[in-house]
Amino acid sequence: MTVVTQTDELRAAVAGHGLPRVLVPTMGALHAGHLALVHRARELAGPAGTVVVSIFVNPIQFDRETDLAAYPRPLEADLTACREAGVDVVFAPDVAAMYDADRSVTVTESLLSRGLCGAARPGHFDGVCTVVLKLFLLSGCETAVFGDKDFQQLAVIRRMVRDLNVPVTLIGHPTVREADGLALSSRNVRLNAAQRADAPRLRQALVAARTAFHAGSRTPSELLETARAGIAASALARLDYLALVDAESLQTVARLERPALLATAVFYGEVRLIDHIRLDP
Ligand code: PAF
Repeated sequence: MTVVTQTDELRAAVAGHGLPRVLVPTMGALHAGHLALVHRARELAGPAGTVVVSIFVNPIQFDRETDLAAYPRPLEADLTACREAGVDVVFAPDVAAMYDADRSVTVTESLLSRGLCGAARPGHFDGVCTVVLKLFLLSGCETAVFGDKDFQQLAVIRRMVRDLNVPVTLIGHPTVREADGLALSSRNVRLNAAQRADAPRLRQALVAARTAFHAGSRTPSELLETARAGIAASALARLDYLALVDAESLQTVARLERPALLATAVFYGEVRLIDHIRLDP
């Protein structure tokens, strides 16, 4: 496995490996969810192709300094995990290697990124689009694998790829969960014991709404109330948003006639967790 920290080194490293190139962009603190993306990337690349993992805590996608400062950065453990997973090239730049001090170009998606996490985190998706496009260009990847957990991120990146004719195929990979249903996230390690014990409530609240949906409930307000009640029963969780949106357009739905996503973000102290569930009429 080759580990590089500079952009020109990345270009040289991938040039020495076979095609196709499949990129897994990450911010590190790798868990089983990331490793599932890496395994998918290996399948897509085949034995002759190149799996590239980027590890970069991208400052321009953070809206809160405290969140950026607290983001875990266990680089050595991440490199070991990548080596064991058969990654070919790791790109782990520092901020100076990625951004000039006077950088002045940002990629903005202005429709799908407005609501949900975009409303709660101003500038977040501009930061994501900008870094992801840079990582695509630097790695020369034909394919990139992202987790479905961040469904809004994937929808926004899909739109960027479509609207800017970026020659990269995007693959979404299903959310990996703990045995108790909590979606794997690098932020989970920041939960204290009581918060961690409470956190599966997010998934349970969404599942309760889906159960009501399967039992025939088609009224958005009713389904939202079922999920809201499940989250509100917690003394530790503070609801950031709960929304029922069209699975394609991510716009709020008034009637459930097409596939929809019930999505939520919740704070446990300073730690913000997200999850969603799909409702297929
Ligand atoms: O999902 C993430 O970890 C990040 O948003 C990404 C795609 C690596 C961009 O920094």
